[in-house]
Amino acid sequence: MSGAGWALHAGSLAYAYAGGAAVFKDVSLGVRPREIVALLGGSGCGKSTLLRVLAGLQPPSAGTVQFLGAPLTEPNPRSALVFQQASLLPWLNVTANVGFGLDFSHQPRISRSEHAQRVQQAIDAVGLAGSEKHYPSALSGGMAQRAALARALARQPELLFADEPFSALDAITRAGMQTLLVDVVHRWHTAALLVTHDIDEAILVADRILLMGGSPGGIIREWQVDLPRPRLADSAAVSQLRNDILSTLQGVRSAASTPVESTI
Ligand SMILES: Nc1ncnc2c1ncn2[C@@H]1O[C@H](COP(=O)(O)OP(=O)(O)OP(=O)(O)O)[C@@H](O)[C@H]1O
Ligand SMILES: [Mg+2]
Repeated sequence: MSGAGWALHAGSLAYAYAGGAAVFKDVSLGVRPREIVALLGGSGCGKSTLLRVLAGLQPPSAGTVQFLGAPLTEPNPRSALVFQQASLLPWLNVTANVGFGLDFSHQPRISRSEHAQRVQQAIDAVGLAGSEKHYPSALSGGMAQRAALARALARQPELLFADEPFSALDAITRAGMQTLLVDVVHRWHTAALLVTHDIDEAILVADRILLMGGSPGGIIREWQVDLPRPRLADSAAVSQLRNDILSTLQGVRSAASTPVESTI
């Protein structure tokens, strides 16, 4: 598999922290343009480490990463990241937070009016219109995460990396954010790689699910999710896929005899 035709492509990746055993090895994966891929796995299996390597934040111990067909050695300005914590700057209001970094030197140069337009479009898209002047201390967790998503969208990324972006939110807010993510990714024509340990989140959001596990970690199996949207957590097709993922995990974990729950 080469990098051509993929937004992101990785071949035979391995990673070990200094002095440590391999966190993962032999990981090859791709994300197509406009595709939403969920990287699903239990706590500690190496998802965040793999995401950081794929985003160019950490060099792999072995293997290659290609972004838009070119080797990736540092974070690319045509990608954007969203993490579990919104990490907004407390002294900037929503508009300034969303626009923050857009004019950094490694970003493509844009005019003042385009800057303002992009920021406002992103704020509107995540439903924060009217809250532009609010400071992070005045935002709920869900609103802060919307602002973080808007900051990513304002870069008009080809690929959005998201590491458990909704796991700190309550169930109702999380469900709304999952729908919003799918909506904005489709409207922005962006691909997304979503790290999650929530099986239902992966099924409700992703076009394709990569299940990560083992020690050192690897991609155990993948599922193409061709179910129509919006997907309902209690539909028969979703239940069937959930059971298939759970039984795959059960098989992988039977040696370790670890109990498996729907949030892994
Ligand atoms: N900076 C670090 N230095 C050394 N080891 C680390 C570091 N960060 C993570 N690890 C180790 O690498 C392994 C994978 O961690 P990672 O955070 O990638 O897992 P994860 O799948 O994202 O877990 P979680 O679901 O809890 O976020 C763990 O054993 C962890 O202890
Ligand atoms: Mg993690």
